[in-house]
This record gives sequence, structure tokens and C-alpha cells, in this order.
Amino acid sequence: MNIRVTLTEKSRAQELNMQNIPFGKHFSDHMLIAIYENGQWGTPEIKPFQPLSLSPANAAIHYGQSIFEGIKAYRHADGSSHIFRPYDNYRRFNASAARLQMPAVPEDIFIEGMRRLIDLDRNWIPGFADHSLYVRPFMFAMDDTIGVKPSESYAFMIILSPTGPYYAAPMKIYVEEYFVRAVPGGIGFAKAAGNYAAAMHATAEAKKKGYDQVLWMDAIEHKYVQECGTMNVFFIFEGEAVTPDLKEGTILAGVTRDSVIEVLQDMGLKVSERPISIDEIISSYQSGKLKEVFGTGTAATISLIRELGYKDIKMDFDIKQWEIAPRVKQLLSDIREGKAADTKKWLFKV
Ligand code: COI
Repeated sequence: MNIRVTLTEKSRAQELNMQNIPFGKHFSDHMLIAIYENGQWGTPEIKPFQPLSLSPANAAIHYGQSIFEGIKAYRHADGSSHIFRPYDNYRRFNASAARLQMPAVPEDIFIEGMRRLIDLDRNWIPGFADHSLYVRPFMFAMDDTIGVKPSESYAFMIILSPTGPYYAAPMKIYVEEYFVRAVPGGIGFAKAAGNYAAAMHATAEAKKKGYDQVLWMDAIEHKYVQECGTMNVFFIFEGEAVTPDLKEGTILAGVTRDSVIEVLQDMGLKVSERPISIDEIISSYQSGKLKEVFGTGTAATISLIRELGYKDIKMDFDIKQWEIAPRVKQLLSDIREGKAADTKKWLFKV
């Protein structure tokens, strides 16, 4: 594929200490941009990371046609670079695009564009354990009009950000009983910017109560749990691992979620994707059947949940006793970081 490349005059990579680097604050030397107009995608361009110039009437700003993905790339001990399951994110990206009436991005622009960009900026992949290069592909409307209609032009971009662990400490999660994230028929399954905007108020309220994030429940009965702010959620019961199913389209189909299901099955656990009610969670906690709770996500990887709060009920967990979540976390990190065999072919060599 033809990509126009303009190199930066001087790399900034050496100026940054990449150990324990905060999520999403630093960006690599280059970015990729491709423009869709007149019904087709133009030649992608890799150029120095720089601000965009947008019309104040930009349609994405006003009406939110804006989607994104989160992917990670790792450096292995032999110096090679690997992207974790990029094709899965590619498929999800275009599913989000279709739901928001945006054009599909061709595979070569998404995958080959990403490969070339990461290869060029490979010095930005931190080599430390639990560190990676976070890859952020995104697309937004580019029409300069405030009429409400699907935009006719779009920008697809990829930026890269070196990162350490997203949630460094075990989390406290509030089970949200009033605000909802998604409804059947809505856009819950899409990685749309608006889903994150819609979550911010409830999250801020949960933070005031001392929690880190919310766990959403279904919008109809306010009974079945769905996902956490930036993560899918898993419950380890005696003899069964459970994660909410995706049938109603209200939950993001996480790539890490899917990987964790496979790893848990390989460990010999029964894994159920099924509705799980807050009543079941509370009663299993009280009877001692609920052993572990954790979130999964590209940015979050595997984040242990040490407390669940619901109304005035508090469920505390002694995470030092946990066996499953730490093992899954280690196994997945070892595959991603090249310390365990990639038997599932999840890694894509740059
Ligand atoms: C991810 O896990 O990649 C996400 O997109 C979550 C968040 C950082 C928005």
C-alpha cells in the first residue's frame, strides 16, 4: 500500500522516561491520517505528530460521529515488536462505524498503516514489564456543517502513546442503580466517543462516594450487571467463571474479554456468558460462593476489584487470597510480552 511519509526532524523518544509512564499523556513522533471524501479513501499519510486544524462547524464536534479503538503493541526481549490481536479490533472498529453511519476503513489502511507507523516509532515501545505502546485508531466526521446528517467526509487517524499500567492499584467499584450506559437497540456495543461522555457524570458521582469506577446495570430492570467504565467484568464463583453475555448489544465485545474467556477455559474452568443479577452477586458474596471479581480491557488489562458497593451494601474482597485473576493476568502478560508461547496466534509481528 502506498503511504506518504514525512519524517520528524528530531525524535523526542530519548527525552521521555518511559518507566511508570501515566496513561495517555505522551505521544510518539508520528501519526497516521487518511481522509475519506467523495466516496473514497485517499492515500494515507504518516507525518510528525501535530495539532489538527478544524472548522468550528466540524460535524463530529456538534453531533458526535466519532469512534475509536484501543490496541497494544509490545517489545520482546529479542527487540521485535508485536501487536496484540489487531484484526479483532479492526472488525470491531468497522462494526462501530456501521452503527454510526460512517464508512468502513479498508483493512490495508488500518492494519498496514498501523504496522508501518509502529515500525517507524518502535523506539517508543517501552521494554518494561506491564508496559506497552497504546495504539489509538480513531475516525471522526470532517464536514463543516451544522445540519444534522451523516457527514460526507471523515478523517481516520492513528496515534501512539507509551504507557504503564492503567489502573495501578486494585479498584473500588460502585454498582450504579440509576444512571445507565446503554439500552437494547442503542450504541452500547460500539466504541463510540459518546458512550464515554455519557458515562462521565455517573463516574464523577461514584468518585465522590470514594469509588474508582461504576459497574453499569441494564436499563430496563436495573438488575443485571453489564460492564465497568472502561472494562468488561468477570466474576469467579465456586466452579464457574461468569461474564455478562453480549446478546442485547449493550456491552462492548472486548478483545481482552474474549482472550480471558479462552485462557480461563484452558485453565479448566467452566466459563459462562450469561445474565448475572446484582441479587445473585450479593447472595453469592454472602454465602462465600463469589471468590473473585475483576475487570478486563486493553488499557486496563486485568484489574482486580477489591470492593463492590451497591446502595448501602459493601462487598469487600481479600485479594491476597485470589488465585485465578492473578494467574490469568500473568499468563496473558507472558503471551503479550513474548515470555510464553503464542499458541493462539494472537500476536501480529510488526
Ligand atoms: C481501552 O481499553 O483501550 C479503552 O479504550 C478504554 C479507555 C482507555 C477509553
